[in-house]
Amino acid sequence: MKKTLGVRELAFPAPAFVVGTYDGAGMPNGITLAWCGIVSSGPASIGISVRPGRYSYKSLMERRAFTVNFAPEKYLAEMDYFGMVSGGDVNKFEKTGLTAVRGDVVDAPYIKEFPVNIECEVTHTLDLGAHTLFIGEVRDVKADEEILDASGRVDAGSAGILTFDMTSGSYLLPGALAGKAFGAGAKYK
Ligand SMILES: Cc1cc2nc3c(=O)[nH]c(=O)nc-3n(C[C@H](O)[C@H](O)[C@H](O)COP(=O)(O)O)c2cc1C
Repeated sequence: MKKTLGVRELAFPAPAFVVGTYDGAGMPNGITLAWCGIVSSGPASIGISVRPGRYSYKSLMERRAFTVNFAPEKYLAEMDYFGMVSGGDVNKFEKTGLTAVRGDVVDAPYIKEFPVNIECEVTHTLDLGAHTLFIGEVRDVKADEEILDASGRVDAGSAGILTFDMTSGSYLLPGALAGKAFGAGAKYK
């Protein structure tokens, strides 16, 4: 028997992004986000939902650019810290010692120590209520060579890229392989 849980925001798991921006004075900042994901291909686009009260919100509106940075377990505390304090109060890069590198393509910094970085240009914004959805068109993707597999694809599993579990409020490590997409369903074709 099903039990109704009412209205909740759930996805299992959610991504965990650290989104990099420059503020009006050119200070690099980062915000940890879980309300986010890939929303289109051709053009490849990413959606991030940010509350208007966040320091990053103004930067996103002004600069119309951001980066998405993925953290491995080694940087779990840094990623969490980026989601705990505001760039209006503290320079999070200075505090953590992480390196902000100017994007090659867009007006936003990426995090050198994080192994995958995506540069995006804001193409749309949509006020949804508590959050504003920013759609970013992907302009470039970079990855540390060590985490690429033999085919040149990002091996997020062995890189230990963290995700977020909304129900427990915890970061997760990649889990076990359960089956192949576009393969397991073939038995019903
Ligand atoms: C795991 C995690 C997920 C979060 N997800 C979001 C989110 O999706 N949207 C949002 O606006 N804030 C989110 N936050 C809160 C912001 O990261 C936090 O308020 C941060 O300090 C804002 O930084 P800023 O003021 O420098 O922009 C999240 C925080 C954590 C720790």
